[in-house]
Amino acid sequence: MGFLGTEANQFADITLIAQAAGYLLLILGVVFAKKSNLKQHIRLTQFAVMLGLISFLWMSYSLLLGYQSFLFSLGLPAVIHIVIGILALSSGILFVLNKFIKKTRTNMRTVFLLWTFAWTMGVILYYSLYYNI
Ligand code: HEM
Repeated sequence: MGFLGTEANQFADITLIAQAAGYLLLILGVVFAKKSNLKQHIRLTQFAVMLGLISFLWMSYSLLLGYQSFLFSLGLPAVIHIVIGILALSSGILFVLNKFIKKTRTNMRTVFLLWTFAWTMGVILYYSLYYNI
């Protein structure tokens, strides 16, 4: 039993909080980019990616060990979350490492949209799996 009052365990709850914090940092990072404060933008987005990586520990463990047998029980929303999540997280990592993807506005906006989509689908997954009150 986790601490958010749902049927989730503490790892799922921590992941939800970490991903929420990461997404907020990403939004703050966008605000700083718009104010041309690149130093803060880089710092915040790096931190957001780090939180994404920490969360990935639980998400991949849960997926690989079939903890929820999601792909069967949740079907398409789970598949969409995983595919978009892999794209969002790996492109975020490549931005941080400064490899393979150019840091153009279009590319950053695309990754932000992917991240938004992955986050939204993650919240839907959490709700479908654990909110049974
Ligand atoms: C930026 C990328 C991502 C975001 C923002 C994100 C967000 C979230 C959120 C908020 C949850 C609900 C919390 C939870 O139940 O643990 C979740 C769950 C989950 N995500 Fe992601 N996710 C991302 C990437 C991925 C990737 C790459 C995978 C592939 C392994 C993945 C697989 C899962 C799985 C399997 C769950 C359910 C975990 C459970 O049993 O509770 N996610 N995600």
